[in-house]
Amino acid sequence: MPITIAVANYKGGVGKTTLASIVAATLAERFGRKTVIIDADPQSNITEVFISSIDFDKISHYAKTQGRVFSLEWIVGSGEPMIYSITDNLTIVPSKPEYIGLAKFLIVPAERIRELRKEIDEKLKEFEFIVLDLPPQMYGLIGPLIKIADALITPVTKTSFALTALYYLIRDIRGIPPNERPPFLGAVLTRFRRNETLNIELYRRRVKRIVDEAYRSMAMKWELEGKVQSYTFNSVFYAHPKLADIRALPFDESENVRMIRVIRGKVRYSSQILSFVEPLVRELEERIKASL
Ligand SMILES: Nc1ncnc2c1ncn2[C@@H]1O[C@H](COP(=O)(O)OP(=O)(O)OP(=O)(O)O)[C@@H](O)[C@H]1O
Ligand SMILES: [Mg+2]
Repeated sequence: MPITIAVANYKGGVGKTTLASIVAATLAERFGRKTVIIDADPQSNITEVFISSIDFDKISHYAKTQGRVFSLEWIVGSGEPMIYSITDNLTIVPSKPEYIGLAKFLIVPAERIRELRKEIDEKLKEFEFIVLDLPPQMYGLIGPLIKIADALITPVTKTSFALTALYYLIRDIRGIPPNERPPFLGAVLTRFRRNETLNIELYRRRVKRIVDEAYRSMAMKWELEGKVQSYTFNSVFYAHPKLADIRALPFDESENVRMIRVIRGKVRYSSQILSFVEPLVRELEERIKASL
């Protein structure tokens, strides 16, 4: 049965989708693990990372003729999911931007979550990992969907707001019945520059304080206590120098900087991120093992 890794933070724009895409691509392409991405975000950002607009149109047409639905309709229980192979080992259940308009009507009842877990185990049984890219809190999907996950990772950027969001996320999850809540595997510091070593250490300490406080306020212990050294991953997801300088995406498609892209059925990485993707994902696998 696949292990579902949720990438979540209540705060928007902290790098959830970027982290989820690199984790999924690296598990599949560099470690040879059969991996499926579930895009649970109406914004459909991770779908856009892996599916070109031409292919997206083809898939939409195929889904219509074959009576398949995209991620969120499947999640709420109104149809069979569209499951699309990106590469040999990497697959996606795509989202679509029309869900932005529908999102306020989408309710995922507790009943459906139990069913969905069963369906995932049946329909996606050939996969080792599922990477669940979650939207920020405003869509109200994190609360129900986090229950289908077996593990949770959270990106944290250089802003104390991301830490406050982490505090509330952990508190909310601890309120879920024990058999339905995923263990928190740790925070991944993202968008820090390589030369910011003092800031990185400062944020490691801040994460520790916030996570300790969140668990203590619920009279609980961290699930990985004594099994893993720290609440933050050792590997940092560094800022991509070109992307970090861009405020808005350029008009010119050819200048469109990306950390990964799919070219002829293969995932290509931007050279700026190659040095840390494998250690980061290896550490994730170790933390998953420790949590089982
Ligand atoms: N390591 C990084 N270096 C440079 N830019 C980054 C990095 N990680 C993310 N970004 C940029 O930050 C922006 C937000 O990232 P991303 O979409 O992954 O965040 P998110 O948390 O998924 O957002 P949302 O809450 O809207 O889903 C994007 O423009 C992305 O390219
Ligand atoms: Mg996102």
